[in-house]
Amino acid sequence: MGIVHLNGQLLPEEQAKIPVTDRGFLFGDGVYEVIPAYAGNFFHLDEHLARLQNSLDGVHISNPHSSAQWRQLLKQLLNANHANKADYSIYLQITRGSAARREHAFPQETHPTVFASATPIIKPSDETYAQGISAITLEDTRWKQCHIKAISLLPNILLRQQAVEAGAAEAILLKEGYLTEGAASNVFIVLKDEILTPPKSAELLPGITRDVVLELTQQQGLNSREAQISEQQLREASEIWVTSSTREILAVTQLDDQPVGKGKPGPLWSRIYADYQTFKKQLRQPATR
Ligand code: PDD
Repeated sequence: MGIVHLNGQLLPEEQAKIPVTDRGFLFGDGVYEVIPAYAGNFFHLDEHLARLQNSLDGVHISNPHSSAQWRQLLKQLLNANHANKADYSIYLQITRGSAARREHAFPQETHPTVFASATPIIKPSDETYAQGISAITLEDTRWKQCHIKAISLLPNILLRQQAVEAGAAEAILLKEGYLTEGAASNVFIVLKDEILTPPKSAELLPGITRDVVLELTQQQGLNSREAQISEQQLREASEIWVTSSTREILAVTQLDDQPVGKGKPGPLWSRIYADYQTFKKQLRQPATR
């Protein structure tokens, strides 16, 4: 059982308790982050903390900690879990806290609840990376503020579940005929030797992995850019990738039961996936950050 952080304290997970009046529990009123740490080195912590700040601003919760305090708190969490050798995923959640009455509008005075845990990253198998995954397209039924990493994830949960029940690993979402993102990932396509991903907007989460992948493609001198992607372009793509902190970069090789390109991970995916692994290896070196 791991050690978790709850409101300034480190304690065994089973001893971490929150009141049933917490608005995170009652309303899903809070935001979160998922931050990888490779051999104790955070993966783009500043970028994750900047996104956290944007999410907090978006829901009007004041940030309980400075960046330096967050760094220290999360480092202590990793140390308490002896997480300095393997790859860990930090889950960090802030809710609006407890209120005496269940009332939708914000309470007068609030003390945010801060929770963080660190668990070993369980990546998809090598075989999954080698074969790619299946995905299905679904209508994006979410709200108009998907750039906020909100803990109220029911639409994403229902969409991912629909994909799983159809034998697929991800739902790729379309809004008014255009690609937004996956149920819990961002999406890239390769179309006529160009690598495309939808631009940041309120319709998708600005993924940290997405930014790293874009950077890697540019370092490689590949043709990549942000662009609106129509359903037709998605279906004509020779490669489709989904990106996220925990799954990294996975090739989608079947879309709605049709093969994508040759039905196996494409050459550009192989290049970028290899670069990503090199980047992680460098990050694992002692005292890189
Ligand atoms: N989710 N879009 C959505 C809707 C997501 O939930 C995620 C990640 C991403 C990718 O973001 P990043 O590259 O920063 O992980 C895009 C996390 C992993 C989760 O909810 O567990």
